[in-house]
Amino acid sequence: MFRTDGADHCGEDPQREEPLVGDGVTPGIVRVGETVRRPVRPFTATVHAYLAHLRAAGFTGAPVPLGVDGQGREVLSFVPGEVPREPLPAQAAGEEVLVALARLVRGLHDAAQGWRPPADAVWGSLPGADPVGPDPGEGEPELVGHRDYCPGNVVFRGGLPAALIDFDLARPTTRVREVANALYWWVPLLDPLDRSVPFAGLDAARRVAVFADAYGLDASSRARLVPTIVGMVGRFHRGARAAAERDPVFARLWEEGVRERMPRAEAWIAREGPAIAARVAAPSR
Ligand SMILES: Nc1ncnc2c1ncn2[C@@H]1O[C@H](COP(=O)(O)OP(=O)(O)OP(=O)(O)O)[C@@H](O)[C@H]1O
Ligand SMILES: [Mg+2]
Repeated sequence: MFRTDGADHCGEDPQREEPLVGDGVTPGIVRVGETVRRPVRPFTATVHAYLAHLRAAGFTGAPVPLGVDGQGREVLSFVPGEVPREPLPAQAAGEEVLVALARLVRGLHDAAQGWRPPADAVWGSLPGADPVGPDPGEGEPELVGHRDYCPGNVVFRGGLPAALIDFDLARPTTRVREVANALYWWVPLLDPLDRSVPFAGLDAARRVAVFADAYGLDASSRARLVPTIVGMVGRFHRGARAAAERDPVFARLWEEGVRERMPRAEAWIAREGPAIAARVAAPSR
């Protein structure tokens, strides 16, 4: 399924490699011309099959998989645009950003809907998590989703989310779980103390409703949304702790604030959950 030809011949100087640095979770990511090279991992072939399906289904908001290069690295199309970094800037706080992201995620899901992963599919996971099958906390899978809508994985164009990158955590999941993940990062579903300043005073319940409406979330997913968020935030807390015990990058993130942020997020959603559930129960219009 991997092509090994052609990938080194893009751009005027195919040898020029420009390092691309995210949160440092994946070392060795470089841009070469109009392509990105990333280390091949056990799940790379599964993710490429998924990305190829998305493209064939008409979804253009994800990289095109271009095989493996002569150095054994995965090759993806470079997605033009800007990738925000935390702390999120004021320009990312508008509701139009939530609306565009919700439509992007909906487009991904509609394209993913018909795809059945191969029987030998291998999925990515955080260090310390189970690498096979659906995540046990996610319910009966409806589709393969992205599962990591953090700011570093969303490409903006013209000030709005336009594409998704880094499908390393893609796995069978549910629509409601995907929506919960996107909301976690972009409402964000954190104690105001832990949000970047432009987001601290925003009405979280309203933002959840705006996203749910723009996504077109159905009634049964709306009813399950807040319990799904509560379970997800608890698993994020336990997963971050487990990853920190096994991996130096996650250990640094834990020490730099995740350790305090996650219990505060759990307390916050326990407090605010009922108001959010009431607000999101039905579409606003
Ligand atoms: N296909 C792509 N097109 C454009 N830019 C990309 C692409 N892939 C990666 N990048 C850039 O490189 C950065 C790091 O890539 P990626 O998200 O794949 O790695 P990561 O280690 O998981 O980073 P993070 O922890 O920030 O998510 C991205 O935030 C983005 O700026
Ligand atoms: Mg990333």
